[in-house]
Amino acid sequence: MHTMRRVLVVDDEENIRLVLRTLLKRAGYEVEVATNGEEAVEKFESFGPDVVLTDVRMPKMNGIDLLTALKAKGSLATLIVMSAYGSHDLAIEAMKAGAYDYVAKPFKPDEILLTLRKAEERETLRRENQKLREEIRKENKFDEILAKSAPMMEIFRTIGKIADYKTTVLVVGESGVGKELVARALHRRSIRANNPFVAINCGAIPENLLESELFGHRKGAFTDASADRRGLFEEASTGTLFLDEIGELPLALQVKLLRVLQEETIRRLGDTKDIKIDVRIVAATHRDLAAEVKAGRFREDLYYRLNVLPLPLPPLRDRKEDIPLLLDHFIARNNIRLGTQLRGISPEARKALIDYAWPGNVRELENTIERAMVLADSDLIHVQDLPERVREARDPVQMQLASGELSIKKTTRVIEEVLIRRALQKTKGNRTRAAEILEISHRALLYKLKDYLITDL
Ligand SMILES: Nc1ncnc2c1ncn2[C@@H]1O[C@H](COP(=O)(O)OP(=O)(O)OP(=O)(O)O)[C@@H](O)[C@H]1O
Ligand SMILES: [Mg+2]
Repeated sequence: MHTMRRVLVVDDEENIRLVLRTLLKRAGYEVEVATNGEEAVEKFESFGPDVVLTDVRMPKMNGIDLLTALKAKGSLATLIVMSAYGSHDLAIEAMKAGAYDYVAKPFKPDEILLTLRKAEERETLRRENQKLREEIRKENKFDEILAKSAPMMEIFRTIGKIADYKTTVLVVGESGVGKELVARALHRRSIRANNPFVAINCGAIPENLLESELFGHRKGAFTDASADRRGLFEEASTGTLFLDEIGELPLALQVKLLRVLQEETIRRLGDTKDIKIDVRIVAATHRDLAAEVKAGRFREDLYYRLNVLPLPLPPLRDRKEDIPLLLDHFIARNNIRLGTQLRGISPEARKALIDYAWPGNVRELENTIERAMVLADSDLIHVQDLPERVREARDPVQMQLASGELSIKKTTRVIEEVLIRRALQKTKGNRTRAAEILEISHRALLYKLKDYLITDL
């Protein structure tokens, strides 16, 4: 079986058309012929060939014009030109214009078949590569969530598995790990995707307003209730309600929420009748809810009701493989947003960013990159563009001393390198002055720079 089955033969010589048609059909190809470029363009539309095998010198539209015309139509077909003695230059020109190969006339049948097979092989490779790239891209991205680390791959799989269920999901993780992104992905991957996604931060709204915000109210239910109002549960009807920072929900409302989850009905403030609701709840918290239960700040029954499907998101420091991916993503995105043209990050700065513990997780990383991009003097982010906490976290002397290493020689080298870097930083890279401060000769400094591979301040 050929992966490229359809061949369109274009030649003004009847004899050649005949020979090629017979030859290619016998070899298992589907063949159409055209006698000139214009006819070829027409046939191209109806036939949809994988390969166009065209003479280069033809009256009216020659092979190169044909090639250009097909390219303009967005054709992805492989183009092979045939050139007779004396039209060699045209063949070269055709190659420059994007032809894949050329065969010289007169040709032996085998030559044509071999060229076609080569083209097929290349096409197969190209498709495989493209598939591979797509797979990699897909694997590193789940909606808005970028990741490649094993624990996050597991999260992606889980989201896919549980998205369609109506069961409440509890997303747990430190601040800035991507809890909201996960909640959105759960919605987008569910059968509710085209229905509303409504989010509320339970910690950001005062208790007295939160209740009417969630459940709505009837006119006159309280002083300011001048009209009937739907709550977020109703807004989210047939969709998803994201209860962010559920750990901050006041105890009184915890009781009401539990009732809603159990009965799937709500009652507006000041109303007497219940309204049936169909809402999928996704809750999130950075708190340890089990501990909150123990401390009496969170109702145990609600905790068990929410915790049916817990989705714990690992902190960034436990999945450092994701950092390079996120760095490159944020740089590319900020280049567009800020109109900057940063090329990337110096190796040393990259290392510092990977080593840092990121207590604020992805959000902190995101902000750090944005700040560094604004500060950067060149088209690379350097260590000096990073905040002090990130730079200090990689203090090599502390790291060396903590390692338990007792070799004076090795430890001295670490200290020496730090001193040289500091001196260069202080003198803004002026080596003569740096050597003075370090109290070594200029030559010794140059030698040490090479020794320690210092190129970046
Ligand atoms: N894996 C990721 N890929 C791309 N962007 C991410 C990823 N994780 C988080 N972000 C980004 O980091 C920021 C914080 O994410 P998000 O708001 O989802 O975190 P959170 O856990 O809800 O944080 P908080 O507890 O502070 O509310 C957002 O701007 C989000 O777009
Ligand atoms: Mg959040």
